[in-house]
Amino acid sequence: MPDPDIREAALGRVPSDLIITGCSLVSTYTGEIIPDTQIAVCGSRIIYAGPDASHAAGPDTRTLDAKGRHVVPGLADPHTHIDQFVLPDRTAASVLPRGTTALFSDPIDVTGVGGYPGLRWFMEACSRAPVRIFHGVPGGLPVDPALSHLRGLDEAEREAVLRDPSVFGMGEIFSWTKITDGDPQTLRDVAAVREHGGIVNGHTAGMSGRKLAAYAASGISSCHEPIDYDQTIERLRAGLYVMVREGSVRRDLRRIMEEVAGRGVSTHRIMFCSDGLNPTDLQSGHMDRCVREAMRAGIDPADAVAMATRNVFEYYNMDQNLGGLAPGRLADIVILDDLESFRVNMVLVGGREVSGGTHDAVPVPRWLRRTVRLECISPSDFVVAAAGGEARANTIRLRTEIVTEPGEAVLPVRDGAAVPSGGIWKVAAFDRVHGTGNRAVGFLEGFGDGEGALASTASLHESDLVVIGSNDADMAAAASHLIDVQGGMAVARGGRIVASLPLPVAGLMSAENTGAVRERFEAVRGAAQDMGCRFESPHLIPIFLPFLALPHIRILNRGIVNVRRREIVPPIQG
Ligand SMILES: [Fe+2]
Repeated sequence: MPDPDIREAALGRVPSDLIITGCSLVSTYTGEIIPDTQIAVCGSRIIYAGPDASHAAGPDTRTLDAKGRHVVPGLADPHTHIDQFVLPDRTAASVLPRGTTALFSDPIDVTGVGGYPGLRWFMEACSRAPVRIFHGVPGGLPVDPALSHLRGLDEAEREAVLRDPSVFGMGEIFSWTKITDGDPQTLRDVAAVREHGGIVNGHTAGMSGRKLAAYAASGISSCHEPIDYDQTIERLRAGLYVMVREGSVRRDLRRIMEEVAGRGVSTHRIMFCSDGLNPTDLQSGHMDRCVREAMRAGIDPADAVAMATRNVFEYYNMDQNLGGLAPGRLADIVILDDLESFRVNMVLVGGREVSGGTHDAVPVPRWLRRTVRLECISPSDFVVAAAGGEARANTIRLRTEIVTEPGEAVLPVRDGAAVPSGGIWKVAAFDRVHGTGNRAVGFLEGFGDGEGALASTASLHESDLVVIGSNDADMAAAASHLIDVQGGMAVARGGRIVASLPLPVAGLMSAENTGAVRERFEAVRGAAQDMGCRFESPHLIPIFLPFLALPHIRILNRGIVNVRRREIVPPIQG
């Protein structure tokens, strides 16, 4: 049903559908907390917020008593990746009860695997979820045209997607050298999106000085990569909006916001973002946690709320419709038990109460459930040929789950093959999307010291099947299992599967509910630690190993790559 004339409704000539009474309204426009406020909602929009909404009442108007409660606008995550672990309606079901009513998604991997039809299917799936989901056209595919095999959209596809009202512009351009080196395609893409009036998200990990200035001058308007106060303030001074990250890959909010609060820096151009959540984190907090943490860091409560609402919609040029509780705004309203605990009591989206339990899931097409295009994998696929009694290997040394550096190791040679030993494991990457048969095998240092193998079809942003293992038999078992279940994460030990998280939708997502996915995810994490992995989040290792936008040494199906030199590194030195 079309919305009634909200101007007429604001004048009291059309009765409202709902009046919320007795609440303390947190104004994102003035920073006030206004007691005894009444909010009138007509159709999907707010038509009044003030001391007395009696003019908006009619015979059928519903009243909601919110005495003693605080009311804030619906919260928004300005940068996240929801094409992982669970389907969009499941993500919505987890974040809605926490007060999140809008997500800005960067669907890089489902686009990389499924191309334009994959992105269109994902957008359709998101449109059925009960939260507002906006998308950026993936801004960084291929990560490196010479080495990566996943492609983004062509020009016509991008033009078509940009016309969709749920598309805000372009997602993160994570290879910032494409801007500083003047990659013509990237510059053309940014210009085309800006011509459409779109917003382009940034990713300036480690940048500073004139390179950061060039990035900011290129029309890219935000960054979610600062990991400390110094990087935050440099980006704010350069005119960029900053999204402080509090997600599964990093949690930087508390430290940064303590310093922002202590130094009295304006929070007007700071937001919070998750940058993606694993299923355990998805069930344990979202933007509500960010607001709570910011308040604990010393940020004024109304400012903390504004950072999670108004600032996001101002950044995306949507503040006429969202980000505050005022006439004309869409009635995305969160009623809290109280501001300090930030416990959510009720959530309205477009004036309707939503619990997250209702959804209208879109079916997953068969072709998107058949994306692990490998015939079979056997132990011989992991052999690294070498001559003599021992061989000097180039290794990928893990400093953290994400940070790598080049290493070297002398390995024994048996039957013409280099054998992992002394804490050195093997690592392999297979093209599982295009069926080219491309694969690379190398050596991994610093993973752990036990026995077994961990395999994953989720890997940034190549979607290779990545396998890490102490022996070829377990590696083959883990990889073969993921062919059987068409994607996911698995751990094998002693030749059998000990934990498995099937993700058959594009090899990235499950159709199960979040609780079931979380259980299997934790089983994989536990099994990887039981087999000797020394890291807190083992699943991040195969996810980040192919990611060419990070230093120093990576593996993808074309080979082991020295990132800075953009050179293929042989597993055994010549
Ligand atoms: Fe991201």
